[in-house]
Amino acid sequence: MKRFSPLILAFGLAFSAQASDGNDVEVLHWWTSGGEARSVDTLKEMMKREGHVWRDFAVAGRAGESAINTLRIRALSGNPPDAAQIKGPEIQEWGKLGFLASVDDVAKEQRWNELVPRRVSDYLKVDGHYVAVPFNIHRVNWLWANADVLNKVGVQPPQTLDEFFSVAEKIKAAGYIPLALGNEPWQETTLFELIALAVMGTDEFHKAFIEQDSDALTSNKMRETLEVFRRMKQYTDIDSPGRNWSDTTSLVIDGKAAMQMMGDWAKGEFLAAGKQAGKDFLCIPAPGTANQFSFNIDSFVFFKNGATQTTESQKMLAKLILDPNFQREFNLSKGSIPVRVDIDMAGFDACAQDSMQAFLRAAATDNLVASLSHNMAIGRASQIALFDVISRFFNDDNVDIDETMRHIRAAVLADRL
Ligand code: BGC
Repeated sequence: MKRFSPLILAFGLAFSAQASDGNDVEVLHWWTSGGEARSVDTLKEMMKREGHVWRDFAVAGRAGESAINTLRIRALSGNPPDAAQIKGPEIQEWGKLGFLASVDDVAKEQRWNELVPRRVSDYLKVDGHYVAVPFNIHRVNWLWANADVLNKVGVQPPQTLDEFFSVAEKIKAAGYIPLALGNEPWQETTLFELIALAVMGTDEFHKAFIEQDSDALTSNKMRETLEVFRRMKQYTDIDSPGRNWSDTTSLVIDGKAAMQMMGDWAKGEFLAAGKQAGKDFLCIPAPGTANQFSFNIDSFVFFKNGATQTTESQKMLAKLILDPNFQREFNLSKGSIPVRVDIDMAGFDACAQDSMQAFLRAAATDNLVASLSHNMAIGRASQIALFDVISRFFNDDNVDIDETMRHIRAAVLADRL
């Protein structure tokens, strides 16, 4: 949030939101695809049953970029919603500016410190106070495949990058789109991230993107990552410009494309379309990343309103999100795994079971990585700059690799400005 001038900030805070009356809560989020809407509907229903009114402010598009832009405008004009979907380091940015209300009392009552892994709760606190409530843990490094298409072509899902290229070649020859990708910067950066994980390995990836080490950001491994990334383009289709992620997943669901590399919210789309894991679609770790877990945690924050206290509706919302029944229901349809460590995984499908095992394994072997493309690793300024560099490189074969590496370094370091 270093981009808010003090004047604008003072204006925003001085005219801070109108209190919502009594039992209603306005919620700004970007869960609008089939699978996402199904998942969040559970929460709306639960709020209703508790006697609260959920006023929906859903802003579709670009994995939250449009929603966050809208939120900034609303917050700066003194009219923030009561709750909003914000995650990762951005929680700190908003919190440090004084916009967010503490939910410590709910956290204490529900014993969040015992329920939520430390790696997660660190994101949720500002100056030691809880200001955000987590929903889930999404794994970003997945490859989704249409089982029937792979069968018809006679190939197995690729486990390494080399296998990916040989499989993709065969799929292309058989007349299918090998890799479904929507040409939006965040989707391209998701693909870039998964290749970087495989090529650089966890330590080098961490050094580059989390420690923001200048040499790692321009290393030979970064060059190789960019080369592999560019090589993948020939396996995407020409209709990708502007296509959103769920329409892109539909290409795999409908058997037009064979594979998509995307976080496990994609599973929500397969399920919403009535497809079954292991039978209709397959989930495999993104090639070369079986030991790693790129994590992405969804959370809601609560905005201070006219009243000095969090409202009853805000508190109820915070409480319901960590309710064990909601944790099960929501994550079953969202594609993620519960964020509470005590939820029984019986009844979750093989993809979710694998995800939980992968999470525990990665935590034990230091292979948990904050997602670069999903606002978990870098702040907003860096994120926007990085999307731009990656997208430009992917879409224009004339863009030079050395220049791109310098721009990647500048984008990642932008956070420090
Ligand atoms: C969010 C997911 C969401 C996806 C696509 C991600 O950044 O964490 O919850 O489903 O964007 O909208």
